[in-house]
Amino acid sequence: KNLKPFVDPLPIPAIARNAGLRASPTNAALQIPYYRMEMRALETQVHRDLKPTHCWGYAGSMPGPTIETRSGEGLLVDWINNLPQQHFLPIDHSIHGAEAELPEVRTVAHVHGARVPPESDGYPELWFTPGKSALYHYPNGQDATALWYHDHALGINRLNVYAGLFGAFLIRDAVEDALNLPRDQYEIPLLLCDRLFDQNGQLHYPVSANAKSPWIPELFANATLVNGKLFPYHNVEPRKYRLRVVNCANARYFHLSLDNGQPFQQIGCDQGLLPAPVTLKLLSLAPGERADIIIDFSSNAGTQIVLKNDVLPLLQFRVSKAAVKDTSVLPAALRAVPKLLESASVKTRDLTLEEVDDLVSDPVSLSLNSKHWCMPVTEDPVIDTIETWNMINLTDDSHAMHLHLVRFQILDRRRFDTFLYQTKKIMRYTGAAIPPEANEAGWKDTVRADPGMVTRIIAKFEGYTGRYVWHCHILEHEDNEMMRPFNVIAAPI
Ligand code: C2O
Ligand code: CU
Repeated sequence: KNLKPFVDPLPIPAIARNAGLRASPTNAALQIPYYRMEMRALETQVHRDLKPTHCWGYAGSMPGPTIETRSGEGLLVDWINNLPQQHFLPIDHSIHGAEAELPEVRTVAHVHGARVPPESDGYPELWFTPGKSALYHYPNGQDATALWYHDHALGINRLNVYAGLFGAFLIRDAVEDALNLPRDQYEIPLLLCDRLFDQNGQLHYPVSANAKSPWIPELFANATLVNGKLFPYHNVEPRKYRLRVVNCANARYFHLSLDNGQPFQQIGCDQGLLPAPVTLKLLSLAPGERADIIIDFSSNAGTQIVLKNDVLPLLQFRVSKAAVKDTSVLPAALRAVPKLLESASVKTRDLTLEEVDDLVSDPVSLSLNSKHWCMPVTEDPVIDTIETWNMINLTDDSHAMHLHLVRFQILDRRRFDTFLYQTKKIMRYTGAAIPPEANEAGWKDTVRADPGMVTRIIAKFEGYTGRYVWHCHILEHEDNEMMRPFNVIAAPI
């Protein structure tokens, strides 16, 4: 049925409240905030005219509350699984890590983009079952940005996130403070995800025609939740607003614009502020990516403006009439992003993104570098060294490639002869190298790797040694072999 748009106010996820202070695991003399994030089944009203929707959430809401912290100030989170014993979405037991003999409900939380020790990163195999919990330490030694937390359990991650296990995680710092950007009620997180609903307003996750393997290659839905609501509205003043947009969808790439054609400014990407604002009329965001944007409504008093994805409405801004004084600033210079130099890179890795889609392999089989999840680690950068990773996309799809632990820069994307590469392993470029778009020319942790292109990224593997993962952030791909472990190893003596 057709739901009436713009009848529900936009929910703003609550700021998570800590449950007191505890000793830091790395410095017993230091007391740091301790949060309890309990995962539970809950009911949420996604639209005025729908019955409450059964979903899963953290600390009583979907999306979960926003964890807010400052750079260099550590915190602890107790991730507590109090979910039911049964999953309510269709598990594919033929997928690695989701075998029928394993418990159905398994969770492990990951803070996307966090520079965090491996034991607190939410390694996909370190899942825990209802009644269990895990205490993680986030040192937050990184620049101000919008991260997000979500589930990462092996083989069912797409289902756990789809069920509602995600939320925002904001890091602040002095550089950001000094810019005098819009803040408080003028700064709004927008967590976007598409979902399918059945006639009763319940979440629907489709299955394939293959009864032995219900996995589907991508979840695309016709309804987009904005902070957990279907096309909500938000009352704004005629002034600047800062929106922290997060693509929390399983597979959807969003293409965002304002229906009056008005431009807006992007001031930050995944891992923090850009060197300077980038004026956009259309913003593309791959799964996992974030955009920090400023919309100036000062010339829109008394009007209504709709934020759209392609042609579909997401969110209506109702701009009040009365003129207001806006003391916030859109600075011309934001934060320096020193270039990582290719000449400093000590290793280049060629990494193929592959998909075999033929009659013998049903369902399609995906992989990174022709390797399965369970095979030995092949990517093993030395701590504090710089490496270049060439994502060689041999598939017909764009993939959203994400590395844990590190931030990186995009060097370029370049078209190549995929047939020649597949048949003879010969790399022949068929186009010029294309530098990153202006709004990608900052610190990233997730990158669009387009089909038929080599996407080159450069990263310094700093922070911690140990086991992490890199994967496609299309969650259906990640769950089905498009994820690999990597080790950051100690420097040889
Ligand atoms: Cu957003 Cu491996 O995660
Ligand atoms: Cu993918």
